[in-house]
Amino acid sequence: MPRFAYVNGQYQPHQQAAVHIEDRGYQFADGVYEVVPVAQGRLVDEDLHLDRLERSLSELRIDMPMSRTCLKLVSAELMRRNRLTNGFLYMQVTRGVAPRDHKFPKHSIPALVMTTRQTKPPKQAAIEAGVGVIAIPDIRWRRRDIKSVSLLPNCLGKQQAFEAGAYEAWMIDDEGYVTEGTSTNAWIITKDKRLVTRPANHDILNGITRISLIRTAEDLGIVFEERPFTLEEAKEAKEAFITSSSNFVMPVVKIDETAIGNGRAGELTLQLRDGYETAVVRGESLAQLH
Ligand code: PDD
Repeated sequence: MPRFAYVNGQYQPHQQAAVHIEDRGYQFADGVYEVVPVAQGRLVDEDLHLDRLERSLSELRIDMPMSRTCLKLVSAELMRRNRLTNGFLYMQVTRGVAPRDHKFPKHSIPALVMTTRQTKPPKQAAIEAGVGVIAIPDIRWRRRDIKSVSLLPNCLGKQQAFEAGAYEAWMIDDEGYVTEGTSTNAWIITKDKRLVTRPANHDILNGITRISLIRTAEDLGIVFEERPFTLEEAKEAKEAFITSSSNFVMPVVKIDETAIGNGRAGELTLQLRDGYETAVVRGESLAQLH
């Protein structure tokens, strides 16, 4: 299948696509990104992702590389050229190219790159089997709400999880509370069936899946509590799961060596996953799930 990448105004063959060696994204991680899920040829929650992109950029005082309408046109054209049906659209904006100097350049043009990736949805059996996570200290900076391309602690954490035979690492703050996964938000369901996730302030990335899942939970009549939870509370929870654009809702069945619930995907977790796929991914009514 021919694959293209969009790089600063051009659709280039993916194999040869490249940016300048003095791009500040490359030298300083001075940029932000979005991963937008694509299902049945449609971008999921595109406007929410673009809202977050705009917010991340404005926090770093980087201009939007083009208008929102143009971003949507380029995304659609890249998806068309790559015949993308299921998978992701990746977009990255950096402050642009300038001679290396920590302070902002006087003049630079934001650099925009977009790529796509085709993936297969996970099998139902894999979802029901769930995944394991390990706990690690959160060693990141204090503006985790900005979707910066500076992901080194996240990469180190994910590698540590992989080497421990786990799928994800949950990062723990200095007070013992779970912040989030290295590329996912963290959730638990308490024994009295309350859905809990940490408030979206500077401590975590406000996941788009998180935002949409809170709405889905409300529509399904599930009691929701936005508050921090400790690692100990998570290990004693009835259910646990992670959310992200690449996982949607993925059950967590093990934290370190502790099995969660009966060691299989939880009932409410699966209901939330179904609800999310119906309402958000397919844009259908939730009525039949009540
Ligand atoms: N990761 N927290 C972190 C640290 C993340 O990197 C992500 C997303 C999330 C979930 O956000 P969303 O629901 O908007 O995907 C939470 C993306 C998928 C990635 O880096 O590949």
